[in-house]
Amino acid sequence: MTDKHGIRLVDLDESGVDRAFRSDVLKGLAQSQKAIPARWFYDERGSQLFEEITQVSEYYPTRAETEILRGKGEEFAQLIGPGRAVVEFGSGSSVKTPLLLSAIDPGAYVPLDISGEFLRAAAADLAAQFPGLPVHPVEADFTKRVELPEAVAQMPKLGFFPGSTIGNMVPRTAVDLLREMRQTLGDEAMLLIGMDLVKDEAVLEAAYDDAQGVTAAFNLNLLTRINRELDADIPVDAFAHEARWVDTYARIEMHLVAQEDVTFSVSGEEFSMKAGETIHTENSHKFDARSSNTLLLAGHWTPMERWTDEAQQFSLVLARAMIPRSAP
Ligand code: TRP
Repeated sequence: MTDKHGIRLVDLDESGVDRAFRSDVLKGLAQSQKAIPARWFYDERGSQLFEEITQVSEYYPTRAETEILRGKGEEFAQLIGPGRAVVEFGSGSSVKTPLLLSAIDPGAYVPLDISGEFLRAAAADLAAQFPGLPVHPVEADFTKRVELPEAVAQMPKLGFFPGSTIGNMVPRTAVDLLREMRQTLGDEAMLLIGMDLVKDEAVLEAAYDDAQGVTAAFNLNLLTRINRELDADIPVDAFAHEARWVDTYARIEMHLVAQEDVTFSVSGEEFSMKAGETIHTENSHKFDARSSNTLLLAGHWTPMERWTDEAQQFSLVLARAMIPRSAP
């Protein structure tokens, strides 16, 4: 169920169960390769654990992207120019946004987020840090077409999509989203997007399976949430977290691996898994210069410039809206 802005409303049944959560889990567990959409990670505990992931020493993306934003401000300013409305897809409470805003002299800041509460807190924070910058938060599901506030209609836009969140989508979903962003932001727009880089497999796997076990706890918390919210009895201790590199897709996959044969029920439905069988819970695609360009071009964005951190672990790509024209 969505409201008039296309925002998903939490639709509870008579016993207080989130219907979308239950249907995603029951559908996902009925598949031969079991899979649960990653958005269900983020209950209160999950959001807290994710915040902790960004601080563990093996998880380099947040630090690497922040390094680029800190170091390349003058180049951003030169290429992007002043006066753009910065539209951030999935507004962060992070330190990344102020780094960008203070580098480029923007005309306005438009954070988009599905969580109204989170959004308003982040927007208030930013407004306090940048007095004089008009801030127009929009509560919206950014995977759909978004209606931007009238106040920024005449400004050229800069989309900002950090964190390599684009990599959490399979290519067709990523391309759909890039095209939606292109339509939302208009002909004069630019896009600054974070894309994590292909690198040594061991480094990648460690980033998604840290020694402290924070990412493992994050992954396993999904099962705890299912038990609590969907009247389930999954033996959480019988599962182990696994992060594996799959070269064909150039992605890290996170799985929950059954350590022994298990049977359990969820909302009255029975499931069984053999030892070694997995539930697939997340993808994180990695890119190189050409594959990131290809994805952007397919999404109707023309790459302009690309920056990496010193250790070349992560990239930020600046692109401009592709103008349709006849071509051979
Ligand atoms: N987009 C980031 C990444 O893929 C953050 C992220 C999303 C993440 N889901 C995750 C990190 C699960 C660790 C585990 O790296």
